[in-house]
Amino acid sequence: MITTQEIQQIREQVRAWHAKGESVAFVPTMGNLHLGHITLIREAVQRADHVVASIFVNPMQFGANEDLDAYPRTLTADKLALSEAGAELLFTPTPEIIYPKGMGQQSYVEVPEIGDQLCGASRPGHFRGVATVVCKLFNIVQPDIALFGRKDFQQLMIIKTMVEDLSLPIEVIGVDTIREASGLAMSSRNGYLTPTQKSQAAILKQAMDKLSADIIQGCNIELAIEHGKQALIKAGFTPDYLELRSAEDLSQVTDEQSELVILAAAYMGDTRLIDNLCFKR
Ligand code: PAJ
Repeated sequence: MITTQEIQQIREQVRAWHAKGESVAFVPTMGNLHLGHITLIREAVQRADHVVASIFVNPMQFGANEDLDAYPRTLTADKLALSEAGAELLFTPTPEIIYPKGMGQQSYVEVPEIGDQLCGASRPGHFRGVATVVCKLFNIVQPDIALFGRKDFQQLMIIKTMVEDLSLPIEVIGVDTIREASGLAMSSRNGYLTPTQKSQAAILKQAMDKLSADIIQGCNIELAIEHGKQALIKAGFTPDYLELRSAEDLSQVTDEQSELVILAAAYMGDTRLIDNLCFKR
């Protein structure tokens, strides 16, 4: 696997592959890779001739009080895992390479209707940072397809909407959430949890499972959500939100909608965890 910080080297390699008629898949990450990320790489290997990954802890998507500096950086282990999984090219830019103008950058990508609610309401500017960096990475790598985890359901929907709205010639593919045996969704932020917090955190998936079962059975939705929040609080979480939405566009649920998603964000100590569960009723 070739690792480079050079935009030019990424462009030349991808151009050479395309010139031979070969397809390119792209998996953007912030590093500290776990099986969730590696599953995206393996899926990419199945779907394209070549796989490009990126590791970039994107300052633009972190709020002032968030964990940008503390975010775990494990480049040596990440490189090994990526090359074993079949990635051929790894882009590891610095913030100066991605944002040469620093705070002077004037152009941004915003997807406000989807992006200002849920995580976007709790983390103002977060999805603007995500959409902007992903757009830039797409323009640098110019892949045919790009893979994202369904774990970050709102993020995936924002990227799909951006690609459609801006006519980007890239197919965006969602990959199912990889979980620990306890049901806890794998996340780089799980590393912040103590062993006790980690076992308590498994209640998040259980609360979503119970909530979906209640809704399928026809229980009162507001009451069922309230019970879900109480279960989270009992397990030591401070819930940020627990909501039921349309899985198609994250709109509020009406009686006719059958494709639904439960979205959850909750703090375990200082660590903010998110998860979601799609289901039909
Ligand atoms: P990061 O949190 O590193 O995640 C990179 C990709 O891995 C995302 O598409 C995310 O949804 C996926 N992922 C994370 N945990 C997963 C799990 N348990 N199962 C399946 N997929 C999982 O998301 C980001 O980075 C950034 O916002 C990024 C898109 C790279 C832009 O900076």
